[in-house]
Amino acid sequence: MFVGEGPGEVEDTTGRPFVGPAGQKLDEVLASVGIARDDVYIGNIVKCRPPGNRVPARGEMEACTPYLEAQIALIQPSLVVALGNTATQWLKPDAPGITQSRGTFYSWRGDILLFPMFHPSYLLRYPSRDKGSPKYLTWLDIQKVKAWLTEREGGVPASAE
Ligand code: URA
Repeated sequence: MFVGEGPGEVEDTTGRPFVGPAGQKLDEVLASVGIARDDVYIGNIVKCRPPGNRVPARGEMEACTPYLEAQIALIQPSLVVALGNTATQWLKPDAPGITQSRGTFYSWRGDILLFPMFHPSYLLRYPSRDKGSPKYLTWLDIQKVKAWLTEREGGVPASAE
């Protein structure tokens, strides 16, 4: 399961998460390791677009997250990828900021794993693919997710072959 921050304009219009520019970037990230969009469930912290695309306020997050909790209860994910700082801090308030927490598997709510990654909108703002860039680090992170999925399905992660 992937959890973003909240709908952008296109998502607000269509009622579907990550279908605008950030969604296309997320699709690219997933496709780079052969994960299909249909293989994952995608939710958001807030369910309506905050005015001017600002970061959701605490009260807005409190109002919306019962829906997210219902989604988590239905999906029963083994791994939750938190996209960006807002999702990470809401789901795991004691996690360090996204620059430090990204790429780390945290145990969460018992036997679930929480894995923060940069938000795809952040990647759209920084086009560089140089070593150490947000895109480069995200490419490393999504490979960790893929390796986890492969191992879980009884395969050998590519890095161990
Ligand atoms: N950004 C998000 O955090 N969620 C979406 O659904 C779209 C953009």
